[in-house]
Amino acid sequence: MENNRVLSPDENGEEYLIKNLRPKSIDEYIGQDDIKKSLNISIKAALKRKETLDHILLAGPPGLGKTTLSNIIAHELSSNIYITSGPVIEKQGDLAAMLTQLERGDVLFIDEIHRLGKSVEEILYSAMEDFQLDIMIGKGPSARSIRIEINPFTLVGATTRSGLIGAPLRNRFGMILEIDFYDEISLKKIINRSSNILDVEINSEAAELISKISRGTPRIANRILRRVRDMATVDKKNVIDIQTVKKTMDILGIDMYGLDNTDRKILNIIIKNYYGGPVGIKAVSASTGIESETISEVYEPYLLQRGFLIRTQRGRCATEKAYKHLRIKYEGKNTSLW
Ligand SMILES: Nc1ncnc2c1ncn2[C@@H]1O[C@H](COP(=O)(O)OP(=O)(O)O)[C@@H](O)[C@H]1O
Ligand SMILES: [Mg+2]
Repeated sequence: MENNRVLSPDENGEEYLIKNLRPKSIDEYIGQDDIKKSLNISIKAALKRKETLDHILLAGPPGLGKTTLSNIIAHELSSNIYITSGPVIEKQGDLAAMLTQLERGDVLFIDEIHRLGKSVEEILYSAMEDFQLDIMIGKGPSARSIRIEINPFTLVGATTRSGLIGAPLRNRFGMILEIDFYDEISLKKIINRSSNILDVEINSEAAELISKISRGTPRIANRILRRVRDMATVDKKNVIDIQTVKKTMDILGIDMYGLDNTDRKILNIIIKNYYGGPVGIKAVSASTGIESETISEVYEPYLLQRGFLIRTQRGRCATEKAYKHLRIKYEGKNTSLW
């Protein structure tokens, strides 16, 4: 995946910049009111009863605040958090080593939990349910299973693909929180908050414009803000205004819908090479040179959500909106030359 792409919702190390934009407490976390409400109640109740918090699964597209929220949960519980991810835990022993070190009430965060190996996932079941580990020691006829007690802890799992989490794991979470794309009002608040932290002034229209082109994604909003801030610095502007945003977006090739060159390339190829579709993902991939998986996970969701594409049984079709946006004459579907 192209990691220098401004609109990519994937993390590229920027979260570790000196000026961290990550909210630390639940009050700083903007939007997602329903999620915050239910989390708040559960956390308060757990603290009051001096019990550990139920295991929580955070599901949703990249860049919407899953990692942030897991840190906030630990912060609100005044617990330690240990961070790992599905693909990193290769063996049962790796997970066992982590679980046995946890103190009562600690949070274990497993990012990309849908990518846990089957055998590792299996020992997680009894760890989550009974705070016990059943581990096989040795091989062949001398192999035996030993049981280890571990301290009660809270597992927070994050996934971009909740559909890939099977029932045995899913059912062991007390709470499944689906994080959705942010509305423009919340994104504007996030942009204003971030500009405060970055110590740059932005006027209301400029913040609003960034909120419109950020694909409902805080990570993208922050990334665009950083680029716009660079432009303002170079142009010696004290306040980011709408001109600064437009000038930056022009250079980055991002249009008023938040589409970049690659999005437009995909639409263009569907329209020009495949008469607007329907066309299968493999054909689009071959014509654009972009991996099928990247198209379906990164580009297509937003194009579908904004109504530039529709999915039919026979494949993707470009909509009239896509034609209009690319200034290509739309002649309706199923036009026959006869
Ligand atoms: N609700 C929110 N309020 C403010 N900033 C947010 C919020 N959610 C995400 N962010 C910002 O977006 C960035 C990406 O969030 P992150 O938790 O890393 O997303 P994910 O783990 O879902 O990919 C964070 O650095 C944070 O600054
Ligand atoms: Mg994350």
